[in-house]
Amino acid sequence: MASRPPPIEAFGAGKVILLGEHSVVYGHPALAGPLSQGVTARGVPAKRCQLTLPPHLSRHQRAQLTAAFARAAKATGEPAVKVTLDADLPLAVGLGSSAALSVACSRLLLKAAGKEPTAKETARVAWEMEQEFHGTPSGVDHTTSAEERLVLYRRKPGTAVGKGRVVDSPKSLSVVVALAGERSPTKATVGALRERQARWPERYRRLFTEIGRVASEGAEAVASGDLAALGDAMNVNQGLLAALGLSSPPLEEMVYRLRGLGALGAKLTGAGGDGGAVIGLFLEPAPAVAKLTALGVRCFSSQLAGPRAT
Ligand code: MEV
Repeated sequence: MASRPPPIEAFGAGKVILLGEHSVVYGHPALAGPLSQGVTARGVPAKRCQLTLPPHLSRHQRAQLTAAFARAAKATGEPAVKVTLDADLPLAVGLGSSAALSVACSRLLLKAAGKEPTAKETARVAWEMEQEFHGTPSGVDHTTSAEERLVLYRRKPGTAVGKGRVVDSPKSLSVVVALAGERSPTKATVGALRERQARWPERYRRLFTEIGRVASEGAEAVASGDLAALGDAMNVNQGLLAALGLSSPPLEEMVYRLRGLGALGAKLTGAGGDGGAVIGLFLEPAPAVAKLTALGVRCFSSQLAGPRAT
């Protein structure tokens, strides 16, 4: 009797945007890095390609996930595998959970189909899924997750997708991620901003351009190991996001809390709005996580980049 192939596993990292959310939608660069938290997909041989839906999903989420998985299955030749998902990342708070899920499924299906799950191939399949979840995202989330490196991402002019340039960091780059307030759906926040920019295009173009500049400067600061300059870029970016109408009292309060705890820079990350995730850049994240946890704040730390092990 032929022996059954062993189960396969694939991971998709969540992400944080260090600099440049929203303006990235309009073609400007954004600096983003992978979290160590994410989604793990596991696959066992089966008669056909299928996904076991996680429990506690709404009807809408079930339909969306089923449709997204079907697109990835089609893009990988429908390998005969049954997939289950497991997340250690807070979901739907601006930390790229749908991209992490898309990358985990795509990597797993590519592996099951006997194909090499390179970052490029993984991103191509994950993009199919991301469109089902978000409509027309900039592509920064799934690109960062597929690369699993800090990237300066830019959407190609006139196209829906873009390219991430890996940014090496000679210094360890650690952030504290803290959750604040009630999150507004990304689609609504992105849509409301689009209306404002359509009404006053020149003013908003200037702000997007400035955010893009700050993101590029931040990437240079990372490459040269100047974490103080990166922190300052994050603080300036927060001010510009507030000017775009994307911050709120719970997010601002958390930004100031993180700065008060010694962050070199702090800002909202992801879509912003009424609430969501805030990041602070720390040389020593552990004491800040301990203090925030004692105050009842949901938080964790993650190293986004650093000297690579030889
Ligand atoms: C969401 O993680 C980041 C946004 O810039 C939207 C996008 O890039 O598609 C708000």
